[in-house]
Amino acid sequence: MTTAEPALVYKEYMGSWTLDDIPWQSFDPSRLDPEIVRIVKAAALVEFNGGAYARHLCKVFADDPEFRVRAERWGGEEIQHGEALARWAQLADPEFDFPAAVARFRAGYNIDFDIDSSRRGSRAGEMVARCVVETGTSSYYTALREASAEPVLQEICRRIAADELRHYRLFYKHLRVCLARERLGRWGRLRIALGRVVESEDDELAYAYYVANEAADEPGLPYDRRRCSRAYFRRAFGLYRAHHVERMVSMVLKTVGLTPNGRLGRWAGALVWWAMRRRVARLARAAA
Ligand SMILES: [Fe+2]
Ligand SMILES: [Fe+2]
Repeated sequence: MTTAEPALVYKEYMGSWTLDDIPWQSFDPSRLDPEIVRIVKAAALVEFNGGAYARHLCKVFADDPEFRVRAERWGGEEIQHGEALARWAQLADPEFDFPAAVARFRAGYNIDFDIDSSRRGSRAGEMVARCVVETGTSSYYTALREASAEPVLQEICRRIAADELRHYRLFYKHLRVCLARERLGRWGRLRIALGRVVESEDDELAYAYYVANEAADEPGLPYDRRRCSRAYFRRAFGLYRAHHVERMVSMVLKTVGLTPNGRLGRWAGALVWWAMRRRVARLARAAA
């Protein structure tokens, strides 16, 4: 970012709500879906860990104080997402011990964030990866809101999905700034974006699901990435509808510099939706 750029250009990205804005008194236990409670617990742990990513971004952009301020604010919003989801999960399941789950999650899941450079090879690459994550979360919380009948969770998801979309815009805007200084073509961006999508299947979500659910239900049950990943994604992917997937694909295409609204966007959206339905059906058969 150049110093000539107005300091308030990112004002729109400031957080706009707190936990006090959530109508907790409207919680309706008769509208709970136990399957949704399980994935909300896992999401709470991953979101609450957002501070670690924010610290990493501050190192990657060490000489960019304006962006560091935004990264810190972004990390604070991700932590708040975790707090809101955890509070809801504790209403849904009073036995859910969030602090204990956080301690266990952090003890068992570790990414080396102490490096000073991006694992994506460049700052632009780091922004591509962040855009993909925010694309995934904004569509996920939209799908979760539409699938849930519980009014407090709907409100939490509405607020979080709006934040995630704002985060996408923040990182997309900074990607444009980075691309003015670095060479990272469409294929390079596409490779990083697809790599980040595949990475979603790594331990983070699977281990969070394990800690929040299986380890609590059945103490002593060992962690198995394949089993926990299947259990998580069967529930999470099952929430999506075609319009969520189409939007997700168009945001990723935009990130990598491809036209999101043309024929390519329609084909890619239809292909990903087909693949996702197939995957959900396969996971459901395996669980039966
Ligand atoms: Fe979030
Ligand atoms: Fe986010």
